[in-house]
Amino acid sequence: MKPELLLVSPLPSRVTEALKDDFVLHDYYRATDKPAMLKEVGQKVRGFVAYASAGGADAALMDAAPNLEIIANWGVGYDRVDAPAAKARGVIVTNTPDVLTECCADLAMALILAVARRVAEGDRYVRAGNWKKRGALRFGTRVNGARLGIIGLGRIGKAAARRAEAFDMKIAYYGRSKQAGVPYDYYDNPASLAANSDFLLLTCPGGPETHHLVDADVLSALGPEGFLVNIARGSVVDEPALVQALQEGRIAGAALDVFAKEPEVPEALLTMENVVLQPHQGSASTATRRAMDDLVVENVRLHFAGKPVRTPV
Ligand code: 8YV
Repeated sequence: MKPELLLVSPLPSRVTEALKDDFVLHDYYRATDKPAMLKEVGQKVRGFVAYASAGGADAALMDAAPNLEIIANWGVGYDRVDAPAAKARGVIVTNTPDVLTECCADLAMALILAVARRVAEGDRYVRAGNWKKRGALRFGTRVNGARLGIIGLGRIGKAAARRAEAFDMKIAYYGRSKQAGVPYDYYDNPASLAANSDFLLLTCPGGPETHHLVDADVLSALGPEGFLVNIARGSVVDEPALVQALQEGRIAGAALDVFAKEPEVPEALLTMENVVLQPHQGSASTATRRAMDDLVVENVRLHFAGKPVRTPV
C-alpha cells in the first residue's frame, strides 16, 4: 500500500511530480472543505509535506492525523511547523538546510549593496528619465570598511560574513551565546550590537524565541546612519516600529526580503526610496530550488524506506 501524504502548503510541482507515483497525495492546501478532507483521510495520512513560509502544521493539524510519522518541510526555516508538538508525538521534522545557504548569503550581500549604493533607486531614477532631467543621483553610503552586525550567526550568517569580509567589513554578531572559534566580536544583546553596526543583518530563525527581537529600541540604537537588512523572517522585526523609525529618519534605510504578513507589505514602505523590497526570494535560484525540491523528496523517500532521514531538524 502506498503511504499517504497530506500536502499542507503549496509546493513546487517538481516535488509533487516526484512523489505522485509512490505516494497517495492529498492536496489539503487547495481543498475547499478542509475539515471534510481531514475527516476522510486524517487516519490514513502518515506524512505531511509543508512549505512553512506559506502555511505550516500546528498541533491541531497533527492531532487530526494520529498516524503521522514525518513532517517534511521545504525550506530551511520551519517556524510555522510546531516542532515541539511534533517531538511530543514522536513525529520527525525535516527541513532543507545547507543547499540554500550560499544563495541566501548572496541575497544578503546583494541587499546590503543595493540599499547602501541606492541600486534599486538608481534603476528607478534612470527609467523615470530623471538622470537627464535632474542630473546625478544623490550619494549613497560606503560599504567597504563599514561595520556589519549579524543577528543569528548560523550557516547563512556565516556565509554572509565570509562575503562581507571580502568587502573589508568589520563583523560582529549577536546570538544566544558566544561561539567558540569565531573571530568576530560578540554582543550579548541586539541593541548593543545595533549601536555598534552600520548594517544590521538578520539571519536568525523565526518563531517565538526571536519574535520582535528587533524592536523600536534596537532600531533607535542602530541610529540615523544605520541600515536594517532582513533575510530571516518578518516576525523577527516589529514591523510598525520599523515603519515609524523609517518615517522619522531614526534609521537610514532598510532592505527587506521578508515581512510579517507575506505577501502583504506595509503600504508606507512602498514609496520610500531608501527601502529595498524583495518578494521573499532568498533561496530563489533555479539550481538551489531544485536542490531543495530534491532534498524534501529524499527525506520522504528515506523515511518510508525505513531509513534515517538526511536532514532532521
Ligand atoms: C524561502 C526560506 O522559503 O528556506 C527558507 O526558510 O525562507 C527560503 O528558502 C524561499 O525564499 C521562498 O519563500
